[in-house]
Amino acid sequence: MKIIIVYGTNSSSTRVASEAMQEVWSRAGNTVVLRSAHDVQPEELTAFDLVTFGSCTWELITPKRHFEGQLQQHFIEFKNRLAGRQFPGRRFAIFGLGDSSYTNFCIAANHLEALVKQIGGTQVGQTLRVDSFFFDQDANEKKIRAWAKGLLTAVSAK
Ligand SMILES: Cc1cc2nc3c(=O)[nH]c(=O)nc-3n(C[C@H](O)[C@H](O)[C@H](O)COP(=O)(O)O)c2cc1C
Repeated sequence: MKIIIVYGTNSSSTRVASEAMQEVWSRAGNTVVLRSAHDVQPEELTAFDLVTFGSCTWELITPKRHFEGQLQQHFIEFKNRLAGRQFPGRRFAIFGLGDSSYTNFCIAANHLEALVKQIGGTQVGQTLRVDSFFFDQDANEKKIRAWAKGLLTAVSAK
């Protein structure tokens, strides 16, 4: 299977989480491409059997307002590039990183679920939400690897 992981990160934990997934899926015999949302064009997604979207939750600060619980900035821009595109039948997996001390815990993952629906994709597996990645990196990487393995089972059952 050809898999792309599209991630949005500010302080690198979403990328490190993506690398753990990439390792699990590559070891299982898949071709896995890891890309920042900053660099991906919508038409590139059609080359993959499974598209994985991952973003941290952040704030968006404009001169007029302060918006909490947002997708990472590169993912917001990628989402804008996806506007009007449809990917019927294409399979998507979703994960988010956050910190449960915030009111809108991992809400970026909810934005990604809505995005996949908006572009007509099919979500496979459950959304993964990771709390405070670097506070317990070992336990969180274990959780991510277990999710990544389970995801392969969910994809093959479809
Ligand atoms: C300014 C700021 C705003 C944040 N807002 C939220 C939030 O609303 N909800 C949440 O769950 N986590 C929030 N976080 C926590 C980050 O999502 C979390 O630290 C995440 O692991 C960062 O991912 P990254 O290293 O890939 O950028 C915020 C962190 C910062 C520094």
